[in-house]
Amino acid sequence: MTLKTKTQVCIIGSGPAGLVLSQLLHNSGVESILLDRQSRQHIEGRIRAGVLESGSVKALVDAGAGDNMLRVGLTHKGFNLAFDGEHHRIDLQGLTGKSVMVYGQTEVTKDLINLRLKQGAQMVFSAEDVRPTEVCSDKPVVHYVKDGKRYEVQCDYIAGCDGFHGVSRKTIPRAVRQTYERDYPFGWLGLLSDTPPVADELIYNNHQRGFALCSMRSPVRSRYYVQCSSDDDVANWSDQQFWDELALRIGTETAANLITGASIEKSIAPLRSFVCEPMRYGQLFLAGDAAHIVPPTGAKGLNLAIADVCILSRALIEHYKANNPLYLDTYSPTCLKRVWMVERFSWYMSKMLHQFPDNSPFERKMQRAEFDYIAASQTASKSIAENYVGLPLD
Ligand code: APR
Ligand code: PHB
Repeated sequence: MTLKTKTQVCIIGSGPAGLVLSQLLHNSGVESILLDRQSRQHIEGRIRAGVLESGSVKALVDAGAGDNMLRVGLTHKGFNLAFDGEHHRIDLQGLTGKSVMVYGQTEVTKDLINLRLKQGAQMVFSAEDVRPTEVCSDKPVVHYVKDGKRYEVQCDYIAGCDGFHGVSRKTIPRAVRQTYERDYPFGWLGLLSDTPPVADELIYNNHQRGFALCSMRSPVRSRYYVQCSSDDDVANWSDQQFWDELALRIGTETAANLITGASIEKSIAPLRSFVCEPMRYGQLFLAGDAAHIVPPTGAKGLNLAIADVCILSRALIEHYKANNPLYLDTYSPTCLKRVWMVERFSWYMSKMLHQFPDNSPFERKMQRAEFDYIAASQTASKSIAENYVGLPLD
């Protein structure tokens, strides 16, 4: 027997994209059901990015999910680029009048799940075999299995917020789907530790030995990354080996302030640029990592996901409340124009800051010249600053 339910929007994926979308729709009286194949504990245990653009901060506050972020998040008015130990600060506040918020995606996710559940949201965790069907009809259906029972969600629209490895993007026929991809020849080995950050602001380091990033989660919890080979294994890295390599890459002056400690999380993430066009197929709308991936060098993955669902929620609310299909019809081109500009910035930052195995001495000179130009030109620094704090939604 199949249990049938109805809703207006069926959201596949309870990561940041799905959760923010569900919250924004709820606040405007639009019903949704959230389906995720993972357990709540698994989702809340993910260690991900940590920088929120000013637009993302506004979206979370406007959605009513920003209280904890405003209480414990760290407002950062600048960040640093470093090249072989030489620093240049990008003065975000001075150059753009905006700042960013350092607040972990893990916390954003927990805040949203708690709020959604408190409001009685229909959230299904550990949903198996989630399958969107009839996406080009006016009555799409999402099938799933939970505790051995089969379910069907009849809906008006499906939001594919199920990340890079999800089912939604693959629902778009290959003949319709155009994808663009670049896999980088390295990864990021990340370490989380309950130690005070090495500096008050983030430091993105280009060093001969490889890229390193000094970030944080709070005044007593730090997040660091070192570039590693794309086929490296976290088992190859003891905590001490990580700390030693980080110290070499951030330069002696900064390393003098480095406080090391036991890792509470340590993992390797691949770096990829990826875009799927279109982001709509029939009544299926892709948002977040389901549609695009950026290398984390620009701190954009979470922010791009939130931007997509701000655009998608506006489109759905305008449809239901004003019977106006305009924003639904323009959703994909509107998102993709901004997605490609963010892909460009993330690619630019990655190209400038990492050691590429096949880079010649000439390319390294180009990286140094890029750094020197940014340090010497307010125009160049402002270009970086306006991308880092976040481009306008549309
Ligand atoms: N069925 C149901 N749920 C699924 C399926 C599926 N077939 N496949 C994936 N999911 C769920 C995952 O368990 C995850 O909780 O979809 C969710 C997707 O969440 P994210 O991968 O976090 O993607 P998104 O919400 O777009 O957020 C993007 O998260 O991973 C980071 O770096 C990324 O910062 C970026 C942000
Ligand atoms: C992080 O704190 O995890 C972080 C910060 C900035 C980035 C990437 C990751 O660009």
